[in-house]
Amino acid sequence: MSDQLQTLRDYLTRHHGGDGSVAAQRTLEGHARNHDDLFRRFWAEHAEPVLSRGSRVVDLGCGPGLFLRDLSLSGPELDLVGVEAAPYMLEQACEDDYDFSIRVADLNDPPADLFEAESIDAVLANRLLHELHQPLVLLQQLHDWLKPGGVLILVDMVRQPLGSFLTHKFGQDRLDEKQDAKAMAALFEDYFEHNRYHDYDLLALLSLTGYEVLADESIRSGRAVQIAARRPL
Ligand SMILES: C[S@@+](CC[C@H](N)C(=O)[O-])C[C@H]1O[C@@H](n2cnc3c(N)ncnc32)[C@H](O)[C@@H]1O
Repeated sequence: MSDQLQTLRDYLTRHHGGDGSVAAQRTLEGHARNHDDLFRRFWAEHAEPVLSRGSRVVDLGCGPGLFLRDLSLSGPELDLVGVEAAPYMLEQACEDDYDFSIRVADLNDPPADLFEAESIDAVLANRLLHELHQPLVLLQQLHDWLKPGGVLILVDMVRQPLGSFLTHKFGQDRLDEKQDAKAMAALFEDYFEHNRYHDYDLLALLSLTGYEVLADESIRSGRAVQIAARRPL
């Protein structure tokens, strides 16, 4: 394994709370919530119109691949590919039982030949961007991989005020009890790692890298956003 992939895996394990199997389990259990009716309506409205039999759909940071599994069980026959790097997500992947495949790569700096130019019809990045050290290189590379008119669906957490993050975490508006410094350091690291971008930052990144934004919706009481963009025709 390359040093780059090992460094990324160490980072992801830490970001995911230090225990990969727990993180993978959480991803499996959170699948329905993270691909809920609001998401599915958005996908149907903006991605499905560009899909027909044989279209290529890619899920970037696919985790165990449950969204690809769902697509393989419904709709037209598609060429379904996930990209993932964390070994504990790959261990839970179900691609042997369903009709999709997973490629292992670091999406911070994806190899140009991971996909052929202009070969992807629709792509999903569901809660991937905040885990990247920088998302610009991926967005530029993805622009080349997408067919003209190809669609990107981006879902991610967006910045929220520290006060509402803490109130949400503790379930109360006053913290009278003394807190443990180590636990608080971990909590604040988690806050900064999950609060990287405003939705307007994501929109700026998309426009700077040549995408045309089709729709932008605030979800989860303003804590996340779903964006549809496309490579212009
Ligand atoms: C929050 S999880 C979301 C998983 C899945 N998209 C979902 O919605 O259930 C983000 C995923 O992106 C993967 N990931 C993060 N950074 C990555 C990178 N640089 N290269 C490849 N995969 C990455 C993580 O391992 C993880 O599985």
